[in-house]
Amino acid sequence: MATSSGCADNIVLIGFMGAGKSTVGRALAKRTGRYFLDADALIETAQGKAIPSIFHDKGEAYFRELERESAKWLAECVRGSIVSTGGGMPTVVERLRDIGTVVYLKLPFEKILGRITPQERERRPLFHDPAHAERLFRAREPVYEKQAQIVVDADRDVETIVEEILSSVEN
Ligand code: S3P
Repeated sequence: MATSSGCADNIVLIGFMGAGKSTVGRALAKRTGRYFLDADALIETAQGKAIPSIFHDKGEAYFRELERESAKWLAECVRGSIVSTGGGMPTVVERLRDIGTVVYLKLPFEKILGRITPQERERRPLFHDPAHAERLFRAREPVYEKQAQIVVDADRDVETIVEEILSSVEN
């Protein structure tokens, strides 16, 4: 496992909504026998409500503060796990590598659009308007690139992505 990741022996998946962070994270966990933690799910559990309700009741700035808190907790308390982040976390947490080795699941916006079903759009307040989502995507790409220690082409089947991530973090 690479040690250039700061203190914790975690793998941290970043990327835009719909890039497959949770799916790949679960598969990585299954393949390695590690625990899988989804930062969005941690926030939802702690708040006792789903993300759309948090956005609706308290606003995006409040949600971003929760993301910063959860990132701090992950860096301080979690070891040896697979962590999936929300698509905006790399924009509000400066050094995700304090949590672990940062892996960017890279996928073109056109592919993301094809993957996000209307139901999934509903669960993502920032994807209600695809034109807005595309602007966000363009603004975030450089941030993902900057935070990433490993960049993976996410336009492949999950098993191939998992194997590439494992061979990259082990080298
Ligand atoms: C967000 C992405 C979502 C979730 C929230 C905000 C974003 O997570 O954190 O709706 O700003 O891109 P996913 O990337 O898992 O959809």
